[in-house]
Amino acid sequence: MTAILHVGPEERGQLWQAEFRHALPAVEFRNWPEIGNPADIRYLVAWQLTDALIASLPALEVLFSIGAGVDQLDLSRLPDHVRIVRMIEPGITTTMAQYVATAALALHRDLPFYREAQSRGEWTQLPTLLCEERSVGVMGLGELGRASLRMLAPLGFRLRGWNRSPRAIEGVECFSGAEALDAFLAGTDILVCLLPLTDDTRGILSAELFAKLPHGARLINAARGGHLIEEDLTAALQSGQISAAMLDVTQVEPLPRDHPFRSDPRVVITPHIAGVTRIETAVHSLIENVRGHLADSPLRGEVDRGRGY
Ligand code: GLV
Repeated sequence: MTAILHVGPEERGQLWQAEFRHALPAVEFRNWPEIGNPADIRYLVAWQLTDALIASLPALEVLFSIGAGVDQLDLSRLPDHVRIVRMIEPGITTTMAQYVATAALALHRDLPFYREAQSRGEWTQLPTLLCEERSVGVMGLGELGRASLRMLAPLGFRLRGWNRSPRAIEGVECFSGAEALDAFLAGTDILVCLLPLTDDTRGILSAELFAKLPHGARLINAARGGHLIEEDLTAALQSGQISAAMLDVTQVEPLPRDHPFRSDPRVVITPHIAGVTRIETAVHSLIENVRGHLADSPLRGEVDRGRGY
């Protein structure tokens, strides 16, 4: 018997169990805590892990993340032979691309400024620029970065992308590696962070990086709170180096009530909803991957454990 164990909300577990029964009956879908015989469980699908959970699964071969990121999983808890897969599914990709396009347009059209003016009862018009007069630079050209650029393309922004390893995307000026970061930043008016969170990228959105952007640049962080040094953003907003930001993620979530971002009209906060795993579509990606694994095919979205994404 081969089984997959799901850890998470009951509603999702039931729906996915029904889908597996229908599409892949060879693999029994079990919902935690009813794990049955642990020796059957070759697959685990979860958002976070506990040591007790891992210790209870001696036959585990593959861990599937519910989300696009895997940093929340504390991979060091897992035995070395366990393979890890991040979620690639149309729901996350589409919602993320929508979020980035929404945020880019909102910052481009000065929405934070107008919200503040509204709260003060003011009627002030700023000069309006065309999208063609602004550049959007996306850091991280994985699934989500590329989908976001595709959604931005018809709006007319000048598009740029930065990635650790080289990428070529039609209509996007691509930069790669640490040595090209300064050149990428120097021409980026609206910076979008969609990087994976690793030891190399933690705190990358810092005073040092902000100083390399054009004065008054705008920031979108839809990746992880750990990418941003929050005090550095507060200082950059004060100096005007960054003129506005839209943040879907923060160091502490939920963002504490007394956090300075909450009362800063230049910062628009959303509660980690940018890219949302859609239970109806994600289950098909999961089933395809489990089916592929049973047939010895490569896993889509497999994480390089050394690299951390
Ligand atoms: C959400 O943050 C995800 O990783 O999918």
